Amino acid sequence: MAEFTRVLVTGGAGFIGSNYVRYALREKPTRKLVVLDKLTYAGNLDNLRDVMERIEFVRGDIAEPADARRTMRGCDAVVNFAAESHVDRSLLDSAPFVRTNVAGALVLLEAARELGVNRFCQVSTDEVYGDLAGTNRCSTETDALHPRSPYAATKAAAEHLAMSCCLSFGQDVVMTRGSNTYGPWQYPEKIIPLFITNALDERHLPVYGDGSAMRDYMHVEDHCAGVETVLCAGAAGQAYNLGARLEVPGSEVAARIVELTGRPAALIRSVPDRPGHDYRYSVDPSKAEALGWRRRWTWPDGLAQTVQWYRDHEDWWRAVKEKLEFRKHDQAWYANR
Ligand SMILES: NC(=O)c1ccc[n+]([C@@H]2O[C@H](COP(=O)([O-])OP(=O)(O)OC[C@H]3O[C@@H](n4cnc5c(N)ncnc54)[C@H](O)[C@@H]3O)[C@@H](O)[C@H]2O)c1
Repeated sequence: MAEFTRVLVTGGAGFIGSNYVRYALREKPTRKLVVLDKLTYAGNLDNLRDVMERIEFVRGDIAEPADARRTMRGCDAVVNFAAESHVDRSLLDSAPFVRTNVAGALVLLEAARELGVNRFCQVSTDEVYGDLAGTNRCSTETDALHPRSPYAATKAAAEHLAMSCCLSFGQDVVMTRGSNTYGPWQYPEKIIPLFITNALDERHLPVYGDGSAMRDYMHVEDHCAGVETVLCAGAAGQAYNLGARLEVPGSEVAARIVELTGRPAALIRSVPDRPGHDYRYSVDPSKAEALGWRRRWTWPDGLAQTVQWYRDHEDWWRAVKEKLEFRKHDQAWYANR
């Protein structure tokens, strides 16, 4: 089990990154954390407010070599969460996805090599496997990657670059392929916080098509624990699936949320499907489990805790939803749906 003393966490002001910062501060209290985040529409310093004094925060861009180098100097590991992360946005404009998810990852990998960083953890996604609809199999790490959205394509490209650095230069790289993640501090454009906050406001819950697209929903604390396990115990050059061994259709997500918020089911509305929508993702997490990781949250408990969190943090999500950036995307994506 490797230990690290100073870790660069990119994208640490986003959803999973900020949860990971809290997780690492709690589980590895002697470790120093440097957070590099550009604070895009999805990055929010409020996500880190209660831990700001315990970390070094730098506003900067992973695609800028100078930002990468100055924040990485003295670190013995990097965990790269920074990304453009929303599939729907990648369908409207892919360019920022290529810049951050591909070029940015390469800048970080090169800086890590130059500075002799011991380990690089690339946080990836189960979406790189592509659609499993029509089968009942789960993706395993040896499967070929068949990304189908621009978002997934850029995440797969970053994985290939990371592997190429490992194979060509002997860099110590590990990768995680996490499933759909939910929990506190998630930007409310993503399905679960969008449905919760819309339900609380008695607005419609827009379900794509017939609501049959299946996802394996994993609580963010489980995702963070998985990343930490792979960072410390994964083998160099290996990818690890992280998932909750669940399959939940979009229609059930909506139904559970109206139930938990005490709102009428009539708020659930079918909207035209996402173009190229993948209907089923499902990963086999056995390889990560063999490292000692286990998901802890069940779906009913995790969703109930998340609904309660959004009830308790109304100021946080209202401030986000009132910003122009949220309203612009909401309008561009849902106005004609
Ligand atoms: N959310 C999920 O369901 C999920 C599932 C599997 C994997 N992932 C992966 O986990 C990572 C984190 O996802 P998330 O949901 O927390 O995303 P997020 O959109 O909530 O956060 C991304 C963060 O990265 C920052 N960022 C974006 N571009 C940057 C740049 N050029 N330089 C520095 N910082 C930049 C943003 O400001 C933000 O704080 C991503 O790599 C994503 O692909 C997410």
